[in-house]
Amino acid sequence: MIRIPEPELMNDPTQVESYAQADFETAHSFLIRKFQDRLPQRFSPVSVLDLGCGPGDMSSRLYSQFPNANFTFVDGSAFMLDLCKKRMDIMVLKKRNQKIEFKKELVQEFVPESSYDLVFSNSLLHHLHDPFEFWAAVQRSIHPDSFIFISDLMRPDSLNMANHLVERYANNEPEVLKRDFFNSLLAAYRLEEIKEMLEIVRLDSKLNLEPITDRHWICYSKPRL
Ligand SMILES: C[S@@+](CC[C@H](N)C(=O)[O-])C[C@H]1O[C@@H](n2cnc3c(N)ncnc32)[C@H](O)[C@@H]1O
Repeated sequence: MIRIPEPELMNDPTQVESYAQADFETAHSFLIRKFQDRLPQRFSPVSVLDLGCGPGDMSSRLYSQFPNANFTFVDGSAFMLDLCKKRMDIMVLKKRNQKIEFKKELVQEFVPESSYDLVFSNSLLHHLHDPFEFWAAVQRSIHPDSFIFISDLMRPDSLNMANHLVERYANNEPEVLKRDFFNSLLAAYRLEEIKEMLEIVRLDSKLNLEPITDRHWICYSKPRL
C-alpha cells in the first residue's frame, strides 16, 4: 500500500484535545518498558531531548525515569507544547540548576545549543513529509555516546488491515481519534523504508531496528564496543 502523508503539525484544537485526552496507557507503558530494556546499564543522562513531545504523556514518563536530568521538549504545535508544559509544570520538582526547556520549533529547524545524552522521539517520524529532515535533526543532536531511542507506527499492508487495527485498538475512542489513528497508519513508514533511510544517513551501523507489535517499531542505539 502506498504511503499517504498527513499534515505535519497537530494544530487543530479538536484533534489536539482528543489526542491529549486519549488513553495511551497500554501502548505507552509498553513502549517505555521496551525503552528501559534497551538502555545501557546504569545509564544516567544529564541531558534529554524529546522531539515532537506532543501533550507530554511520554515526556512525563521520561521525566519520571530521569528526574535529575535537563530536558528539552520540542514541538512545532503551540497547542501541543502548551499542554506538555502544563503537564510538566504539575509534576516537575525543579532541582537547583536543572534546565527544563520547551521549544516551539519545527524539527527541521531545530539546532541544539549542545548535544544530548539521550535523544528520544515517539510517533513523530510518520508526520514528516521528508523523513531525512528528522534523521538530520537526530544527527545534529547527538555526540558519540548519546543513546538514541525512536519509536513510531508502521504502515500496514492494506487499507483493510489499517481498518482492522483501528477497530482492534481504538474502537472505543472518539471518531476524531480513530480518524487520526487511521491517517497515521497510512502515513507511517514501513520497516524496509526505515532500514533504507538508516543506510542512507549511515546510522545503520549505530542503530538497531525492530518491530515490537503489529503496528509499532523501535530503533535504538547498539551497545558501544
Ligand atoms: C502523534 S504526536 C506524538 C506526541 C508524543 N511524542 C507522544 O508520543 O504522544 C506527533 C507530534 O509531533 C508534532 N510534529 C509533527 N510534525 C512536526 C515537525 N515538523 N516539527 C515539530 N513537531 C512536529 C505534532 O505537532 C505532534 O504534537
